[in-house]
Amino acid sequence: MDLFEHQAKELFAEYGVPVPTGKVAHTPQEARTHAEELFAAGSKKVVVKAQVKTGGRGKAGGVKLADNADEAQALAEQILGMDIKGHTVHKVLVEEGSAIAQEFYFSFLLDRANRTFLSICTVEGGVEIEDVPHDKLALTEISPLTGVDKARAREIAEAGRLPAAALDGATEIIERLWAVFTDEDATLVEVNPLILTASGEVKALDGKVSLDDNASFRQEHDKLEDKASADPLEAAAKEKDLNYVKLEGSVGIIGNGAGLVMSTLDVVAYAGEEFGGQKPANFLDIGGGASAEVMANGLEIVLSDGAVKSVFVNVFGGITACDAVANGIVSAYKLLSDRGEAVDRPLVVRLDGNNAELGRKILTDAALPGVEQVETMDDAAKRAAELAAAGA
Ligand SMILES: Nc1ncnc2c1ncn2[C@@H]1O[C@H](COP(=O)(O)OP(=O)(O)OP(=O)(O)O)[C@@H](O)[C@H]1O
Ligand SMILES: [Mg+2]
Repeated sequence: MDLFEHQAKELFAEYGVPVPTGKVAHTPQEARTHAEELFAAGSKKVVVKAQVKTGGRGKAGGVKLADNADEAQALAEQILGMDIKGHTVHKVLVEEGSAIAQEFYFSFLLDRANRTFLSICTVEGGVEIEDVPHDKLALTEISPLTGVDKARAREIAEAGRLPAAALDGATEIIERLWAVFTDEDATLVEVNPLILTASGEVKALDGKVSLDDNASFRQEHDKLEDKASADPLEAAAKEKDLNYVKLEGSVGIIGNGAGLVMSTLDVVAYAGEEFGGQKPANFLDIGGGASAEVMANGLEIVLSDGAVKSVFVNVFGGITACDAVANGIVSAYKLLSDRGEAVDRPLVVRLDGNNAELGRKILTDAALPGVEQVETMDDAAKRAAELAAAGA
């Protein structure tokens, strides 16, 4: 999970990393109130910053300075609703303007290729890190066993060629950011720019944090989730522990195993070309244990998408055999009709692998309305696309 800048900064502040004072606003009026407070507290300027989970906000016009509260309100009016690389701005951060003497770059990240942690530090900050010449970047491998203490933090800052005036402040910040990185189970903690102010303070002026969702069981990160812009179906699926991603097409997809579902998406998109460009409507992996309840929940989520005109259930029986999946489908139909949500769109089922014969027989005997069985994945994809086109 990626955090918004303001969330990253709130986290930094909890760990004692200095950040500018600021508050989030959802309306221009609210931005004005925050700006008034900041000016009253002595700010010379305030900054209005688009809160979106993508980079390059400054370049897109999403970061602007204001000299007074009127201006801050007008800027918030401009920035709220703006589209930045496909992300709509729903909130802005209004914070005190800093007198910047110099901008640096610092990050901790998980270096998957080398199976280690890495820090990147450079005196050339404020610009996109991809644009900084490689020989200007100090890359330092960090052992998870020894981590980052004060001495190591100082080495990193020195390797990045940070100026003497910034070394003490940066060392302290780097050490604390290591605590953020490890204690919060992050895979990225990035500060661009880390600044030295005219009065000699070092501060995090921006913050980007990615948290490792695999560690969510031992964290309390739920409150950081962006429920507002989550797709409602994806949110409902998450509640039910389903691995679901909404897509734009008309053929609902249910499969077992991420790899199989991925290839099902490809096959459906390919087959759909013949039928006016039908495409997969979602990714849904029901995983290994395709119980009746999981199948019912999956069908319910997929069918609550109005754009879905047909559903393709593609199962390769392994540890969970096809007869279990077939029974799951039969019970799911009953469960859904008991819930008053009877399946009202055609279902194409392809069963292969462990106990496929038995599974097919169970479905044939059950004679569920609208359920068709097709033997191969390609033919089933074709049939599902054809039915979607017919139902459109
Ligand atoms: N509080 C502030 N006071 C003064 N200047 C600021 C402040 N916040 C940002 N700036 C200026 O705006 C620039 C861009 O800000 P920031 O790094 O937060 O956004 P960005 O780099 O455009 O976005 P992203 O990091 O998402 O690509 C900074 O490099 C800095 O020069
Ligand atoms: Mg930045």
